[in-house]
Amino acid sequence: MAISPLPELRRVVVLGTGGTIAGKAASSGDNIGYTAGQVGVADLLGGITAPEGVTLVAEQVAQLDSKDMSFETWQKLGQRCAHWLAQPDVAGVVITHGTDTLEETAFFLHSVLSSQKPVVLTCAMRPATALSPDGPQNVRDALAVASTTGAGGVTVVCAGTVHSGKDVQKVHTYSLDAFASGDAGPIGYVEEGVVRLVRAWPDASSSATSEAVNAPLPWPRVEIVMSHAGASGQIIDALLRDGAAEPVRGLVLAATGNGTLHHALEAAALKAQGAGVAVLRATRCAKGRILPKADDRLRDAGALTPVKARIALMLELLGE
Ligand code: SIN
Repeated sequence: MAISPLPELRRVVVLGTGGTIAGKAASSGDNIGYTAGQVGVADLLGGITAPEGVTLVAEQVAQLDSKDMSFETWQKLGQRCAHWLAQPDVAGVVITHGTDTLEETAFFLHSVLSSQKPVVLTCAMRPATALSPDGPQNVRDALAVASTTGAGGVTVVCAGTVHSGKDVQKVHTYSLDAFASGDAGPIGYVEEGVVRLVRAWPDASSSATSEAVNAPLPWPRVEIVMSHAGASGQIIDALLRDGAAEPVRGLVLAATGNGTLHHALEAAALKAQGAGVAVLRATRCAKGRILPKADDRLRDAGALTPVKARIALMLELLGE
């Protein structure tokens, strides 16, 4: 099904947060030795023609390498999205972002934004200074999605593919097509500025968590601990007695297979749960979900990856 862009004059707001898409290297032949988050979002839009009938607005929300993403930046980004999405003439928001934690930001926004309008994250695997950068085409494609009639929810556009913010994961360290959507598959493709949907747009999340973007910082501390061969309970024990200003309120266990845990790690996690820490198991597997069993003593995160389960648990604790 091909879907045409909106006919009337509308605004699409582009929020910049940094990343490789805004990165600069000393030489155009260098695709890896660059500094992320150097070029302003208005400059990234410089050579790009907006979709017909669309006016672009650029706003710099942050300028960072997304490995350093913080709750402060998420809060600001969530608030700026909510602000712009509430404007009647704004068709949607595009966010330029680093690839490394893009799936976390996408899942966070999916969880906290209640608008039905589209929020489209995009990125690049090559810096802006590259001989053949992928950022400009990704931005063009993201603008096409944000200005498409009927588009909605939080999506990620990279290498011509549209993923839902709930399912997307970075799966490649170098390829330009670095993202996948696991079992769910992509929701569509962008071809010459036209979106071809293969499944429905993601729903905006429930408004129940939308207050989270305004909740005072610091947000609840949730740590991820991995189960692996030779694991022990020592990391959990250390986390619970680490004496940091922010005590650990939640633990996500990156579990093997269908949510299994090394017995020593499981014993420490059960002790932590008994002491009032919220514990959630999320699978280390790239695909599939944890199928619950009647005798499970620790909750599972279904199909959520450990990093997304951490966000879900943090928001759950924030709502308590
Ligand atoms: C980043 O995540 O900010 C750097 C890496 C990238 O964008 O590919």
